[in-house]
Amino acid sequence: MSVKILAIESSCDDTGAAVLVDGKILSNQIANQKVHEEYGGVVPELASRAHQENIVPVVDIALQKAGVKKEELSAIAFTQSPGLIGSLLVGSCFAKSMAMALNIPLIGVHHMQAHVLANFIDDPKPDFPFLCLTVSGGHTQIVLCESPLKMRVIGETLDDAAGEAFDKSAKLLGLPYPGGPLIDKYAKEGDPTRFKFPEPKIPELNFSFSGLKTAILYFLQENQQQDPQFIEKNLADICASIQHRIVSILLNKVVKAAEETGIRDIAIAGGVSANSGLRTALEAYGQKYHWRTFIPKFEYCTDNAGMIAITAYYKYLAGEFAGLDAVPTARAAF
Ligand code: KG4
Ligand code: ZN
Repeated sequence: MSVKILAIESSCDDTGAAVLVDGKILSNQIANQKVHEEYGGVVPELASRAHQENIVPVVDIALQKAGVKKEELSAIAFTQSPGLIGSLLVGSCFAKSMAMALNIPLIGVHHMQAHVLANFIDDPKPDFPFLCLTVSGGHTQIVLCESPLKMRVIGETLDDAAGEAFDKSAKLLGLPYPGGPLIDKYAKEGDPTRFKFPEPKIPELNFSFSGLKTAILYFLQENQQQDPQFIEKNLADICASIQHRIVSILLNKVVKAAEETGIRDIAIAGGVSANSGLRTALEAYGQKYHWRTFIPKFEYCTDNAGMIAITAYYKYLAGEFAGLDAVPTARAAF
C-alpha cells in the first residue's frame, strides 16, 4: 500500500501544506502573510492569527491539487520546532485534531532538519555523508549528514543569521522587510567589487555577521554625510558588494569544513539558498574544489511544507511517530 502524507508547516509567517505520495511531492501550497510588512519584521501574535485563517484553505487546496482525499492519508506531519511558539501551536493543534479524527499516526518534524532534506525532494540527491550549509532567517549552520535522520551541526553563527545579515543590511538601505530578496534583485545590476566590507576572523567552523552589520552602518553614515543621495545613486553596487561579502563568509567556511571532513558532496538549504549570488558562487566553488553541489528548487528553499513532508516520509519509514501529547517548542536541537 502506498504511503500518503499530509504535511503542515507553520513555524514563522508562512502557512504551508504539502501532500507526498511514496516519496514524491504532489502538491506544495503556501500562503504568505503580508500583515508584517508595515512593521519591518514578523509580529508573532499577528502571525498566529493569520495561520488560523489560512490553515484550512491551504490544506484543502493542497489535498485537491494532489488529488488525494483525506480518508486516504497514512499520516499527518507538522513542524514541531524550532519557531514562533504561537505559530507552531496553530499547526500542531490542527495536525493533531486531523490525525485524531482520521485515526492515523502523527509525525513531528524538526524545521532545520527539514530544510536540509529539501535536497532529497528531487534528483540528483547527495550521497551520505554530505555537508549542508543551512542558511535561513533564524539560523546559519554547517550540518554533517550521515543519514536522513542522523545529522550533526558542526558550525553555526555566534550572533546574527545570514538571513538577518541580509535583512538588517536592507533595513539600513531603507528597503522594506524582508530585504534579502531585494538585495538579491538590486545586486544583479551592481559591481560586487566596488565597495570592500570586512570578512571576520572567527575560529573553527563558526560564523559571525554582527561586525559586518556595524561596518555597513558606519560606511553608509559616512558616505550619506558627504552626499545625502549616496545610497540612491549607488544602490546596485552597495547591494552587490554586501551580497558578495555575505556569500564569501559563508562559502569560505564551507571550504574549511570540506577540507577538515574530506567530504565533497555539498548542499545548501534554507531561505538564503534562494539567493542567486550564493547559488552561482556555490557552482563556481564546486568547480574549483571538485565538489558535487546540490541546491533545492527555488520553492523548496524558503519555508515550505514539501520539506516537512519529505522528512516525515523518512520518519514514517523508520517508524518514528509522535504522540497526541507532543508539544511544539520554540528551540530544540536535532
Ligand atoms: O528559511 P526561511 O524562509 O525562513 C526561516 O526559517 O527563517 O528564510 C527566510 C530568510 C529571510 O531572512 C529572507 O530575507 C531570506 O531568507 N531570503 C533571501 C532570499 N530569499 C529569502 N536572502 C537573500 N536572497 C534571497 N533571494
Ligand atoms: Zn526556515
